[in-house]
Amino acid sequence: MNNTDRKLLKKDLKEKRELVNIEIDRFLPRKDEYPKQIHKAMRHTLFAGGKRLRSYLMINAYKLFRDNVEKTYEVAGAIEILHTYTLIHDDLPAIDNDDKRRGRKACHVIYGDDIALLAGDALLVSAFDVINSSKLEEKLKLQIIKELSHETGSTGLIGGQMVDILSEGKKITKKTLEYIHKNKTGRLINLPIRFACLIAEAPKADMDRMEKFGNKIGLAFQIVDDILDVEGDPATLGKTIGKDDKVQKATFPALYGLEKSRQMANDLIADAQKLLEPYGEKAKMLNLLAEYIITRKV
Ligand code: IPE
Ligand code: IPE
Ligand code: MG
Ligand code: MG
Ligand code: MG
Repeated sequence: MNNTDRKLLKKDLKEKRELVNIEIDRFLPRKDEYPKQIHKAMRHTLFAGGKRLRSYLMINAYKLFRDNVEKTYEVAGAIEILHTYTLIHDDLPAIDNDDKRRGRKACHVIYGDDIALLAGDALLVSAFDVINSSKLEEKLKLQIIKELSHETGSTGLIGGQMVDILSEGKKITKKTLEYIHKNKTGRLINLPIRFACLIAEAPKADMDRMEKFGNKIGLAFQIVDDILDVEGDPATLGKTIGKDDKVQKATFPALYGLEKSRQMANDLIADAQKLLEPYGEKAKMLNLLAEYIITRKV
């Protein structure tokens, strides 16, 4: 990525992040609203500076088909809210036992496991509340709620988290590793793209193409997350490193080594970028984002 494009992406990411943050902030109870402990805890991790890549994906996938991107902001916010719930629960001592998140102390470190659990639960249900309260047509809301609940349940995201913890310390197959990554991370990368296509009423052929794009970047994203756990800079990354190795998590570097993992992520991104070719200039930011996924340090 050249310098001009890097600056362009950085600026656009920031701009869209702020717009989505406004949507999230508008919907959630103030931090001093009764019972304030939970609202503080929810906001603590929610506004700790997440990249908001999932909402960025949604906005830019929508842009391939239509211009009125503000129509995506509410659902984009809902996805970020739900994503934050997964992070709060993921960091709990009973799961990954991580004490740093988004450059801050993890939610449970400040508020305790009990409140962090409830804050995660509240964020999860809030995500559906946001979609339900959005200005979208009723039929569209229902479809999105249906897909979001299905994809993040025990045969989707939570299934991935389940197999992730079951696999700690075990010798696992490539197939199991792919199941974990596809579900724990891939689902929530694919969904915003899918919802963008749904809201934009994209043709079926484009939906299928964009689903393939989502599959590729979703897997690449988690491979890079695994790599960063090995060689990232904890200060930049905002989370602890070396944890995966310590508890023998099922990761790409553990199974394939660092170099092969890097190559696999690069190949996935190259394939993903090819899928964007028919969209030309309209896919400029998605293209840059795809590249950012493998070059990111955070
Ligand atoms: C972290 O996701 C958890 C994974 C699925 C790897 P992100 O790296 O997108 O986290 P934030 O939202 O920017 O903090
Ligand atoms: C997290 O995967 C996936 C979900 C939270 C659903 P990781 O456990 O690898 O994410 P980090 O590294 O803690 O962000
Ligand atoms: Mg985890
Ligand atoms: Mg974790
Ligand atoms: Mg990780």
